[in-house]
Amino acid sequence: MKYLGSMKEVDGVLEIGGVLVTQLQNEYGTPLYIYDLELMERKIKALKDGFISDKFKTTVVYASKAYLSKAMVQVVDRMGLHIDAVSAGELHTILSEKINPKKVHMHGNNKSLEEIEICVEKGIGSIILDNRFEAKRVAKVCRKFGKKMDVMLRLNIGIDAHTHEYIKTAKHTSKFGESIFDKDIVEIVREIVEEDELNFLGFHCHIGSQIFDELAFYEGIDSMVKFTKEVSKKLNITIPEINIGGGFGVRYTEGDTDVDLKYLMQKIIDCLEKTLESEKVKVEKISIEPGRSIVGQAGSTLYTVGGKKETFGGEKYIFIDGGMTDNIRPALYNAKYESIVANRLLNNEKKEIVSIAGKCCESGDVIIKNTKLGECSEGDLILVSCTGAYGHSMSSNYNKALKSAVVFVKSGKSCLVSKRETYEDLLKNDLSLEDM
Ligand SMILES: Cc1ncc(COP(=O)(O)O)c(C=O)c1O
Repeated sequence: MKYLGSMKEVDGVLEIGGVLVTQLQNEYGTPLYIYDLELMERKIKALKDGFISDKFKTTVVYASKAYLSKAMVQVVDRMGLHIDAVSAGELHTILSEKINPKKVHMHGNNKSLEEIEICVEKGIGSIILDNRFEAKRVAKVCRKFGKKMDVMLRLNIGIDAHTHEYIKTAKHTSKFGESIFDKDIVEIVREIVEEDELNFLGFHCHIGSQIFDELAFYEGIDSMVKFTKEVSKKLNITIPEINIGGGFGVRYTEGDTDVDLKYLMQKIIDCLEKTLESEKVKVEKISIEPGRSIVGQAGSTLYTVGGKKETFGGEKYIFIDGGMTDNIRPALYNAKYESIVANRLLNNEKKEIVSIAGKCCESGDVIIKNTKLGECSEGDLILVSCTGAYGHSMSSNYNKALKSAVVFVKSGKSCLVSKRETYEDLLKNDLSLEDM
């Protein structure tokens, strides 16, 4: 397993953020999500430092679906990022912190009336409309509150990014956005522009997640700039803003490339500046929306080994005290991870090929299939690295598992930011069948 961020070995035990994992286990129990705060801050800084231009303003918007908690909102806010939401729940979490609502942006392909009302009432920064019907709904809510709302339109630019089928978002068949190839697309934009209550800022796209092929981003930029030019000409309007989404790839395992975020951002800026210049398009602001590249590598999951089993068919399992309930990605997208026996690093050569399986009643509940691991037995600690994005945020209560606790670590200190769920939490919304 590659050591990420502040990870290091101290007398055979893994340390993250200056805190031994054995100490974290004693204090908070397992399964435990551990976030290396310094690494998150470094990733944010790399994005901010790289995504700067003297031709237009830039904004980095954190895609909160990757991992969201009150503490994460605080980190993002104090580092000067904006933040997005796709549900009333995410909005509620974000707005529960003292954050300027103008820095909050709302996504979603089917926003409810309630969600739109929260956005308008709280005066958030912008709503990214998914389709023409939504424009009407937002305008209606604005009339009710006597307010105007800044909006963008999400475009499907028809790019088939080389990533997992489930995390592609801009194929012609994807559910997101309005297609730039739709014969009515200019009419759709005209309708939005003509709504008195809507202030049309510009276009948004997000071509997918975990993308390593830079050409996909450049192709996306080319499409967005050309489309912006075409529409502003046809409708005789100025379009001040473009948002090119997130999706920057993250190294999970040996097969992945290590991305230098600052350098990638500089190359993206270069491409944006050149394309805008060659197409003679002027915009005031360009935004990106990274999620995974900020939190992915910073998060790890710590588990305790319950036991081992070798099946009749020859598969060797190590059983851990969590599983698909705290990390659905291996079952959902065949996601790959690296791991180590985090409390036994001395003279513990990785010899055996094992599968690390969770405790859920599902054969697919395997966090890592056929990985080389050092010797371990009951009570040992297994750390799975790079689980910070779409791990805790996708966790579930399947088999009535309790959602894991989350700690942030930095400079020898740990801070519990989400408590482990309790059995009372599991039942708090259940009611008895009275007289039925
Ligand atoms: C609209 C939008 N923006 C940004 C993101 C963030 O993507 P990533 O976490 O890959 O950077 C997503 C992820 O699905 C998304 O749907």
